[in-house]
Amino acid sequence: MGPDRLLYRKRRRDMTTSRIPGLHKMARTERLDAVADAAGLSADTKAALNRNSATADLADHLSENVISTIEVPLGVATNLVVDGTEVLVPMATEESSVIAAVCNGARACRPSGGVMTEADDPVMIAQVQITNVPDVAAGQAALLAQEATIKAVCDGCDPMLVSLGGGFRGLEARTLENAMLVLHLHVDVRDAMGANTVNTMAETLAPQIEDWTGGTVGLRILSNLADRRLVRARARWSAEEIGTDTVAGILNAYAFAAADPYRAATHNKGIMNGIDAVAMATMNDTRAIEAGAHAYAATRGPGYAPLTRYWQEGEDLIGEIELPLAMGIVGGATRAHPTAQAALEIMQADGADRLSRVTAAVGLIQNFSALRALATEGIQRGHMSLHARNVAITAGATGAQVDQIAQEMIARKTIREDVARALLSEGAS
Ligand code: MEV
Repeated sequence: MGPDRLLYRKRRRDMTTSRIPGLHKMARTERLDAVADAAGLSADTKAALNRNSATADLADHLSENVISTIEVPLGVATNLVVDGTEVLVPMATEESSVIAAVCNGARACRPSGGVMTEADDPVMIAQVQITNVPDVAAGQAALLAQEATIKAVCDGCDPMLVSLGGGFRGLEARTLENAMLVLHLHVDVRDAMGANTVNTMAETLAPQIEDWTGGTVGLRILSNLADRRLVRARARWSAEEIGTDTVAGILNAYAFAAADPYRAATHNKGIMNGIDAVAMATMNDTRAIEAGAHAYAATRGPGYAPLTRYWQEGEDLIGEIELPLAMGIVGGATRAHPTAQAALEIMQADGADRLSRVTAAVGLIQNFSALRALATEGIQRGHMSLHARNVAITAGATGAQVDQIAQEMIARKTIREDVARALLSEGAS
């Protein structure tokens, strides 16, 4: 570990106070000074935080109390063909082997035509919670009877969306076990993720909903279980390309995930390695996508289930993924952030539809590659050799040292920070 990184624990002193009045009103560099004073940061640490001042100034407009930015590596996955079109996919991830896995898995299904997808219209759900309804059945009927008015109010909130072909698509009036009434608004949000659009509609409708039902409106917010916005992707990996043992191994791995939620959680985590990396590169809301994916995995079967499934056609392996993907190319940080814009340009994603389809394809391929590694040589060999570079860097290696130390640790079959540090000091002496 480099001396600076090693020493932060020794330097640490108790925080004088976490109250910094007016922090949000300060200029970014003043804010950094204030935090550095309170936390007792050294001049070197402060300089490290002030390294990317242009990016940090942009970030200041995107979030609150910003003092700096934290860089995530942005790589590009190659070899993908999605719906017959070649595509390079930018992926932002700190985890080694994620992007390499997509490149390898995509190359293996290229001879069979790559990945084919289907996507629902981009329909988001907003929920309005209604309590204290004197007669729940009558309240439900009243909401259904007002559909035309509800449509007019929703569409009136966003005439631009309507002009682009989106807008209100329907409603549901649900009753929950505790006599709560819940109105669902279904809204086609076109190229947006859609949270702001549907939240505005739900909030605007609230007073009228109270009049119609006689109840009290509580929450008015989108549901992240965006199950009207599903994306499916499918690929064929020929037995000739990957080998019959690998086909059998992946089917076996899938059977494990299908039968066991402990395994399904890890299986789905691997899928999200890919999906989150594309979402992050395009500055989409990774937490919304994660929430939707896991909620969908928990509700589509009797228990928590894998988001992919695999079966055999002849000798070949077919893989398929289905999940909700609330992703946009307009609004939010996607529009404001030049790197996110560049990512969309690399991907040639002209709309949220294409972005979601490519992202689902990445999730499927990511999962295929993880299962292939797990079912054959195990994950550690490939994973650890990439991980070794991270460990070398953490230990303080720079430039050519990074690969030298990583290779030496791999040769010794011991990838540990203390070993990397010892190797570095051997080299220095
Ligand atoms: C690691 O980030 C992801 C895996 O654990 C996924 C899986 O087990 O399927 C390798």
